[in-house]
Amino acid sequence: MDSRFRGNDVTFGAAKRRMTERVPLRLTHMQERLQKIIAEAGITSRRKAEELIVQGRVSVNGQVVSELGSKADPARDRIAVDGKPLKRSRRRLYLLLNKPPGYVSTVSDPQHRPTVISLVRNIKERVYPVGRLDFHSSGLMLLTNDGELANFLMSPKSGVPRTYHVKLEGQAAEEDIKKLETGIVLDGRRTAPCQIQLLASDEKPWYEVTLVEGRYHQVRRMFERIGQEVLKLKRVRIAFLTDHGLAPGQFRELKTAEVNRLKNWRGGRSGASG
Ligand code: URA
Repeated sequence: MDSRFRGNDVTFGAAKRRMTERVPLRLTHMQERLQKIIAEAGITSRRKAEELIVQGRVSVNGQVVSELGSKADPARDRIAVDGKPLKRSRRRLYLLLNKPPGYVSTVSDPQHRPTVISLVRNIKERVYPVGRLDFHSSGLMLLTNDGELANFLMSPKSGVPRTYHVKLEGQAAEEDIKKLETGIVLDGRRTAPCQIQLLASDEKPWYEVTLVEGRYHQVRRMFERIGQEVLKLKRVRIAFLTDHGLAPGQFRELKTAEVNRLKNWRGGRSGASG
């Protein structure tokens, strides 16, 4: 054994034994990955938190930490992002909002347009939109300060279906609809298979579209590909959540069982809880 590893019995073997013997590690078992702590504080998603770390914008006890995988103890360490100390959010909050058209689904807008956050009144916690709905689109959005769940719901692996009602400029050919259902290439990647159903066959027909992914302007760009402009777009369902009882502009808190069901969502099937 290299003598450099022997001081204070901190040998490789001893460290390994400690790991395998499951001796409680008093000093380290409260340590969590920094990106997890930042996400749980509701600052941003875990992936974005990783970017903040790499960019050198995160400090622990006054020291900049830019290495991914670094850990800290959220209860004891002073963690700051851009010099601002992180506050552990007192409670996790999960809101379902029925967004009206004419609102941006971001926290702030450089063009000073109204944001979805301005609709969430009498809520002390800072919440963040999970994903996006275009300015002109309407319908359901989740807002939360639980970065972990937000990250999960936005990741393709969650497979959470979102259903939209879409009004088109004109009639679409059946074979074009089939093409979209099978998948088309957008930004060099094939879209996942989706379901499209005719709801009302007017001159300007309505379709119901269910996607299990959420790419940038996906519905509008899919229909554009078959030469159809989307005139109206409304998200009517996220997984099992509907707009039942929620007028445009209104929001409600999710029930614990609903939150658990979302957390346990796996590729189109929800878990046992809820
Ligand atoms: N697809 C779009 O094109 N826009 C939305 O707002 C949501 C999905």
